[in-house]
Amino acid sequence: MKTITINASKTYDVMVGAGFFETSGDIIREKAGGQTAAIITDKNVAALYGKALKTSLKKAGYHVITFTFAAGEASKNTDTYFSLVSFLANENFTRSDVVVALGGGVAGDIAGFAAATYMRGTKLVQIPTTLLATVDSSVGGKTAVNLETGKNLLGAFYQPDLVLCDVSLLGTLPEDVYREGCAEVIKYGIIADRELFESLEKPINEQYENIISGCVKIKSEIIAQDEFDRDIRKILNFGHAVGHAIEARSGFTMSHGKAVAMGMRVETRAGVYLGICDMECFESVRRMLESYGLPTNVSYTENELAAICMSDKKRDSYSISMYFPEKIGKCKIADISVNDLKTLIKQGLLD
Ligand code: GLY
Repeated sequence: MKTITINASKTYDVMVGAGFFETSGDIIREKAGGQTAAIITDKNVAALYGKALKTSLKKAGYHVITFTFAAGEASKNTDTYFSLVSFLANENFTRSDVVVALGGGVAGDIAGFAAATYMRGTKLVQIPTTLLATVDSSVGGKTAVNLETGKNLLGAFYQPDLVLCDVSLLGTLPEDVYREGCAEVIKYGIIADRELFESLEKPINEQYENIISGCVKIKSEIIAQDEFDRDIRKILNFGHAVGHAIEARSGFTMSHGKAVAMGMRVETRAGVYLGICDMECFESVRRMLESYGLPTNVSYTENELAAICMSDKKRDSYSISMYFPEKIGKCKIADISVNDLKTLIKQGLLD
């Protein structure tokens, strides 16, 4: 078991290990307290792990209530959020009770936002069940739901009290969902840790504990410096400016991870054009993504992608800030003007 402590507006532990899920109740009791535990999860994850978590929480003395919703990004909306907070109110849930988010990014984001806002904030524990959620959304306090006008537009920074990553829960991941998480792991190697990147030559799922704890450690160092995403935290968005544009252009039929993989390839190639990194760095990125079965070819044009990039919520009026790798394990930020963005994406689309 590895424990990484996050020092943000709240200090909390991320515990990464194998086979401790059934003792979650005792750990949550010790770290978060409360009388009632509300398990928030989707119907697929509930069928796999809901019963074991409920049993463990009950054994630890909790009164347990469960709220489930249909699996998938489409559920991450204000209807689910209002149903959830109404459910908590009807169950007389209080601010000293504990919301337990069990699942991938959707469960973590909805449950996290409910915990942030219900009675102005309750206890929150994240139990991620996808690789992507273990290395990204469960840690760092970004919570949100989507509005019809865009993703994650209604949200809050709200740190959990505890994150429990039992890697044995990842054994049931469908191949596509696994690969999506691999894209995010590869990102950590590119932006911050050459050794981590090189260790990915051995499959990630054969070394989950080391890899996940390595990624969480990197994220913890970034969050300690910039919890509220004003500065260095934007490094975590490497590949995401173009990745989000690809995802949006596909009408969200393409998964986030695949789109980010393509985005990382395009942004690294653009970095070569800018003279920030060399072709060897670009080839390493492309080879690593392809070795995990991630797509790197993009069928959309620079005009389409640049237009979407500029309408993204992260832009300001005249420029977009993007990180580019200087070499594997090190990135640098550059402000790209609206005028240059299209040229840059065009160069990024080159092979
Ligand atoms: N997912 C990027 C972040 O947590 O900032």
